[in-house]
Amino acid sequence: MKEWTREERYRVLHSADEIKDLYDRVKTSVYRQTYHVQPITGLSSDPNGFALHEGIWHLCYQWCPWGAVHGLKYWYHVTSPDLIHWQNAGIGLAPDRDYDNKGAHSGSAISVGDELYFFYTGNHRDENWVRTPWTCAATLTHEGRLEKLPEPLFGPRPDYAEHQRDPKVVYNAEKERYYIFLGAMSADKRGCVLVYSSPKPLEGWRFEGELKVHGYEHFGGMWECPYVVNLSGTDVLIFSPQYTTLPGRGNSTNHNVYFLGKMDYDTLTFTPDGPYRFLDFGFDFYAAQGAANVGDPDKAILVGWIGLPDNHYPTEEEDWEGSMSLPRELRVRDGKLLQTPISGIEQLRSDAPVQLGILPPACELQVNVGEGDFDLNLFTREDGTGGLRLHYDAAARTCTLDRSGMDKRFNTQVFETLDVPLEQPLSRIRVFIDRSSAELFFNDGEATFTTHIYPTEREFHFDLTPDTPFRMWKLERSVTDEFVV
Ligand code: FRU
Repeated sequence: MKEWTREERYRVLHSADEIKDLYDRVKTSVYRQTYHVQPITGLSSDPNGFALHEGIWHLCYQWCPWGAVHGLKYWYHVTSPDLIHWQNAGIGLAPDRDYDNKGAHSGSAISVGDELYFFYTGNHRDENWVRTPWTCAATLTHEGRLEKLPEPLFGPRPDYAEHQRDPKVVYNAEKERYYIFLGAMSADKRGCVLVYSSPKPLEGWRFEGELKVHGYEHFGGMWECPYVVNLSGTDVLIFSPQYTTLPGRGNSTNHNVYFLGKMDYDTLTFTPDGPYRFLDFGFDFYAAQGAANVGDPDKAILVGWIGLPDNHYPTEEEDWEGSMSLPRELRVRDGKLLQTPISGIEQLRSDAPVQLGILPPACELQVNVGEGDFDLNLFTREDGTGGLRLHYDAAARTCTLDRSGMDKRFNTQVFETLDVPLEQPLSRIRVFIDRSSAELFFNDGEATFTTHIYPTEREFHFDLTPDTPFRMWKLERSVTDEFVV
């Protein structure tokens, strides 16, 4: 594994030429995704600035151009007419101001009238590497570029730790105010969310207080990437708590969880209806962000980072890593959160024939599971060994996924086996495979499981419990992956 110096990690990109060779090399990787957004070079992490504006979906990702390393972060901008076909739009935000000199960190977007506003964290560090996180804004120009405001909107609270970032902006029609939910760590190292409000997007922001989440006053050390949305009358609070392990999640100290409950903007209290739940039960899913301006009170659209902080992935050797998840639709039905793949993804199904027992590099698999225990083994070798193995224990209503049989093993010290507890008996699985990821949707959205996966040349077979009906389609490419900087 390459050791990076701070200078290398925080090198400023001055011209596209500096990464053209890297792009040409990265592009030849067998692990490049075909229908998922991925970094043009280097590393992608959190989804940022996700909104629908004048008929176009805008999405950015945290991007470190130089390699598979967390360093100086840019926002890289992609757009889509339909959340399925994506094209590269170039750098969204570069860390080119004093207030964001060490990174344009995560944030969100909201479309208001004919303006698209972006909110992000300007990660400033002084010569002693002391951090000051600024909450900053930008707008979309007519040419489709992001243009920063000359000054940040506001600075950090001195009574909290230096971890104050990831502004998610929402509009509350009842209050006629915009709200920023900011991920934070308190002075005594508790994870929390700070709330700001303003009648206007670009001025007048005032601190309202810390969000009270009853029963979760001590839950992790920092709540990254908070997001609050109302779905069919139920409020949902999604965030990524870190610096803590949680039951059933191996040695990972990064998680993406949610509560269903009630958000009270008068008292700044989120009252959960029940315990936290994992947003995704897989190995690699974090920092998910919901899109603004979806325009449907019953549906949210969410993208997550396929990856985890502080983890290492095999494509590090090729100087790139990371991928966005497929956009997914969130709904609340009968007091439960359901997550389904973005509708319309079926248009990528190809007519090309598939072969029994052979897994195409980009495909969808749908399985109707019968009663009793069930097995699905993906990416196995010709003799049926190895691979990513799913076993469903009907008595326990639990799927266990094990990736320890793959040739390329990674993050083994964090976890290689994880459970997906189900409330309903397993009846249906939809699997989306791309060249370096697999996303599984159980029981029409009851639970999901996202993982990176790096099959070698011999790992392309699959099998499942005999006599289980299934269908499979190859999926067509839908990301352009062009060199636009
Ligand atoms: C989450 C996170 C955010 C931060 C960003 C920096 O993965 O740590 O809190 O803004 O990544 O890249």
